Amino acid sequence: MSQTITLRRPDDWHLHLRDGAMLKAVLPETTAHFARAIIMPNLVPPVVTSDQAQAYRERILNALPQGADFEPLMTLYLTEDTDPADVAAAHASGLIYAVKLYPAGATTNSASGVANFDNVRAVLEKMAEIGLPLCVHGEVTDAEIDIFDREAVFIDRVLDPIRRATPGLRVVMEHITTRNAVDYASAQDDTLGATITTHHLVINRNHILAGGIKPHYYCLPVAKREEHRLALRAAATSGDNRFFLGTDSAPHTDANKLLPCGCAGCFTAPNTLSILAQVFEEDGALDRLERFTSLNGPAFYGLLPNDATITLEKSGASYPDHIATEDGPVTVFDPGFDLHWKVL
Ligand code: DOR
Ligand code: ZN
Repeated sequence: MSQTITLRRPDDWHLHLRDGAMLKAVLPETTAHFARAIIMPNLVPPVVTSDQAQAYRERILNALPQGADFEPLMTLYLTEDTDPADVAAAHASGLIYAVKLYPAGATTNSASGVANFDNVRAVLEKMAEIGLPLCVHGEVTDAEIDIFDREAVFIDRVLDPIRRATPGLRVVMEHITTRNAVDYASAQDDTLGATITTHHLVINRNHILAGGIKPHYYCLPVAKREEHRLALRAAATSGDNRFFLGTDSAPHTDANKLLPCGCAGCFTAPNTLSILAQVFEEDGALDRLERFTSLNGPAFYGLLPNDATITLEKSGASYPDHIATEDGPVTVFDPGFDLHWKVL
C-alpha cells in the first residue's frame, strides 16, 4: 500500500496571479491545491487604491474555474502617495489583508514603490494601529550593493529601523533567501513572520549559473549560496510558527524569460506541494509540513486554518513542463529531481 499524508488545505501567503489571459491560465494551478492566497499587487499599473483592489478581486473571482473554492486575499501596493484613510477603510471592509512594500526598482513592476521611507510614515503608523500586516520585499536597490548582499543590507538599513520606529507594526519578510534573514526573524517577537518559497528550498546560485545560464531559475531575491539554502530548509522544516509558505509563484511567458534581459520569477504553483512533501520527507519532517503549508500562515494573519483537507500519495507524480496561455507557454519550475508525492 502506498504511503499517504493528509493536510489541512494549504494557503499561499505570496502569489502572483497577473491579469487577463495569464490570470485565466494560471489561476486553476493554484485553486487546485490552495484555499486562499495573498495576491501580489504588482500589476501594470499597480493595485494602489481600494477601488483598484476591489476591481482586481472581481476579475480574479470571474476567472475562477467552475466549482473552485478559493478566496483571494487582496493587498495594496504601497506608494509615497498612499492615503492612510483609504488603507484603513479597505481593511475595515474586509477587502485587504496586507499592504505590500516594494523598494522602488527592486523587482518586476516596482517602479512606483517607495524611495523615501519618511513619506510612508503615516501609513505605517495607521497600519500598526489597526493591526494590518506590511509584506516587505526586502532588498535594497542601491547600485553599489552586490545583488547577493541586498537582502542582508536591507535588514540592517531599512527593515530593522522601520520596525523600531513603528512599534507594533506587523511585518512579513517575504521570500527570505539568507541565513541572515532566518536569524533575524528567529530573534523577533510575534509581530514578525517570514515567508519562504518552494524554489529557494531547492536551488542555490550554482543551479542558476553553473554549466550554463538557466533563466527559469532566475528570480528575485536571487538564490544565494548553499549555506543559505540549508538555513531556509532548517527554518521551514522546524515547525517554528514564524515561518510559512509563500510560493512567490511568478509566471512569465518563455518569450519574456528567454531574453538578453529576461524577467525574474519561478512558476511553481503546479508542483509546489509535491516538491515540499519531498523536501520535508528528505529532512525527516513530514509531520511538520502542515504547519508550514496550512497552520503558521493563518495564525500570523489572525485567520482560522482551513477545515477542508487534501491528501498526497507517494506513488510518483508528473507535471507538464509548461502550461499554455494565450500569451504563449509558461515553463513550470523544474526541481531537478523526480517527484514522488502527488496530490490526490
Ligand atoms: O522573481 C520575482 N518575480 N520576484 C519578485 O519580487 C516579483 C516577481 C514577479 O512579479 O515576477
Ligand atoms: Zn513576489
